[in-house]
Formats: sequence, structure tokens, C-alpha cells
Amino acid sequence: MNIGDLVSSRTQYMTASEIRELLRWATADVISFGGGMPDPSTFPVEDIAKIVAYVLEAYPHRALQYGSTEGVMELRQEIAKFSEFFRGIKAKPENVIITVGSQEALELLGRVFIDPGDVVITENPTYLAALQAWRVYQPRLVGIPMDEHGMMVDVLEEKVKQLKAEGARIKFIYTIPTAQNPSGLTMTQDRRKYLLEIAEKYDLLVVEDDPYSYFLFEQIEVSPIKALDKSDRVIYLSTASKIFAPGFRLGWVIANEEVIKWFNLAKQSLNLNTSNFVQYIFLEGLRRNVVLKNLPHVRDLYKRKRDAMLAALETYMPPGVSWTKPSGGMFIWVTTLQHIDTRELLKIAVTQYKVAFVPGHGFFVDQSVRNAMRLNFTYPSFEQINEGIRRLALAIKGA
Ligand SMILES: Cc1ncc(COP(=O)(O)O)c(C=O)c1O
Repeated sequence: MNIGDLVSSRTQYMTASEIRELLRWATADVISFGGGMPDPSTFPVEDIAKIVAYVLEAYPHRALQYGSTEGVMELRQEIAKFSEFFRGIKAKPENVIITVGSQEALELLGRVFIDPGDVVITENPTYLAALQAWRVYQPRLVGIPMDEHGMMVDVLEEKVKQLKAEGARIKFIYTIPTAQNPSGLTMTQDRRKYLLEIAEKYDLLVVEDDPYSYFLFEQIEVSPIKALDKSDRVIYLSTASKIFAPGFRLGWVIANEEVIKWFNLAKQSLNLNTSNFVQYIFLEGLRRNVVLKNLPHVRDLYKRKRDAMLAALETYMPPGVSWTKPSGGMFIWVTTLQHIDTRELLKIAVTQYKVAFVPGHGFFVDQSVRNAMRLNFTYPSFEQINEGIRRLALAIKGA
């Protein structure tokens, strides 16, 4: 049977994640700076073991049952409280929907908002799997360059003006303003305000994706854009993946009730509801302050790992290679030498030098930059960071 003849035309827009492809190659002796994985030593295993036993004893019938699409009410309440306490975001439980990680929220955005030809504006580079989720819906992706202060919002305003003049339908502006993936950079407070002003002036939705603001390593005075949002136009995404455990696949969206209603409708046919069992586990995790208790230690560990990677880059990299100094999160963005194509380099790096990274191409809306790469510093050990960067520098020098 030729299955290829049967798949829908839509599948041509589905591209395999380079990160996942790469994880397939990664044998035990390869040091991987690939996926955005937390350090497994940070998983609160003992707390989770107690919580799982408690949930099964206290409310097994609810936890093991189907649930409502928007999520467990007590968890929505707890997330509203957590977001106010931790991020200064004021929300009612009705403004919250629980998703299967933030990745599902990205898919819901595509399902609900994007028709072919609609404009979606993003930072350039941006989170590769968001682009992947939306390409299926055939948007026109418009990238806005970044500098060390985040998205260049003056360029954004010019672009929005131009697009409006062309009669383009702009569906939303997508930003990861804090400790961005892939650059690690954080947008200044002034730019956040300016971005919101632009959204208000041109009546646009903003999507703020925020998995990393829990891991800021420097004292930077920034608030979520959602916390500044008086006109209820920011759709805020966050996740338990980096602060609790990604294996649970639990995230949430905070937005105005009408957006939640549409997301609810779009989610029904996807998976009916996020695992009730997982929701009750995370609910207990929040109630027992597991997240808040662990964060200072995790933040400190990641800061030290970032510093170890920055120091190794300084020691080993040849002249002409540059990199960001991330203010938080999990990644450093490296720009290698002009003549290097990092997709080609990856093959040599993995097979000959036993080190892996994510080539930069896929993070750009037009795949235009060929000589960049993203490095994750949270998953590898301190020894692997030093040795892996040494090997990577050799691969670059040999290219
Ligand atoms: C910016 C961004 N958004 C969304 C996600 C998806 O996270 P999850 O589905 O694990 O919540 C990630 C994961 O790395 C991310 O970096």
C-alpha cells in the first residue's frame, strides 16, 4: 500500500522537529545541547510520590475520571492565585484553561485564529515548535528582528503600519518576552509597554508565551505583558514543564473569557480534556508549595550552568564566533562563522565529535540564517558542558 498517496495535502506543511530527529541520533556517548530539557535532578520526585499516593487516596474517583475540557476548577483557581502572586496577573478561574503543555495552546491558537494567508507576527528567531504548529494553517509569518533588549518594537510598529496599509489580516503578535527561546534574551519593560501600545493602537491580539520567567538569573524589573494589559487583549501561556516536570504535559492559558470559550471548543475534539490525574497532582503540588520551595535552588543551579557554558565558550571558541548572554531560561544562541551551515556542521559534530545542538535555521520564519545554533545548558552536567563546548569548538574550527 502506498500510504504517501493517501495522506492529506495538509501534511506537506508538517515538518519533523529537528530536535526530535537529532534526539534519535544521540547515542550514549554524544553530549547533547539539543532539547530544552530540565536537569532531571530538579524533579521533585519525593514530593510527587507523596502527592500521587494522596490523590489516589483522597479523590480517586475524580482523578481517574474524564473531566471538563477547560480543566479542574480547583486547579484553575489555584493557577489564578499563583499567577497573581508570582507574576502580578489578575485573573478569575473563568479566564484559565488547562492544556496539554503549552504546546497544545500553540496548536489551539492555530486552530482558532489562522486562515491561510493571515499574518502572524513573531520575534525572529522564535520558538521553532510554534512555527511548526502554525505552518499547517498556512499563515504568512512575519518576523521582527531582535537586539539584546528583545523584539525591536519600533520595527514592529513600522511593519504593522505597512501590513495594515496593504490590507493584511494580522491575527496576533507572538512574543516570548522573558528569557526567550532560543536567544535567552529578555525584553525591557519600556518595550513591553510600547508593544502593548501598538497592539491597542492597531487593535491586535498579543500572545505572550512565558515558560521561563521563573528562571531569571539577574535582577531585571520586568512584569509580564499580561500584567499590564488593561484592554484584555493578551493571551498568556505558561506551563508546569520547567518548574515541576515536563513528563506530566500540563500547561495553561490565561485570556479573556471569549478566547477561553473558543479554545474550549477547539480542544474538545483534540483530547476532550487534559489528564485529570495530572491536574490533581499539579494542584496538590501548588497547594503544598512544591514549586515555590524548589525554585530558588533550581534557579541557582541553572545560573551556574549558564555561567559554566559562557566560560567554556570564552575558553574554546575561535575568533569570529559570538553568543548571547542569556538573562535566564535554558538556552544560549551562538552565531558561528559566515561560511558555516550549522545543519551540515551538525552531522559532523554528532558523528565525529560526539556533540549535538539545534541548528538555527528552523527558528527563523524564513529559515534565512544558516550559521547559528541553539545550545541548551540545563540538561548536561557541568563536566559535559565543558567537554561538549570543547568538542564543538573543534568541530567549528575544522569546518
Ligand atoms: C517558548 C516555548 N513555548 C512552549 C513550549 C512548550 O512547552 P510545554 O508543551 O512542555 O509546556 C516550550 C518548550 O520548550 C517553549 O520553549
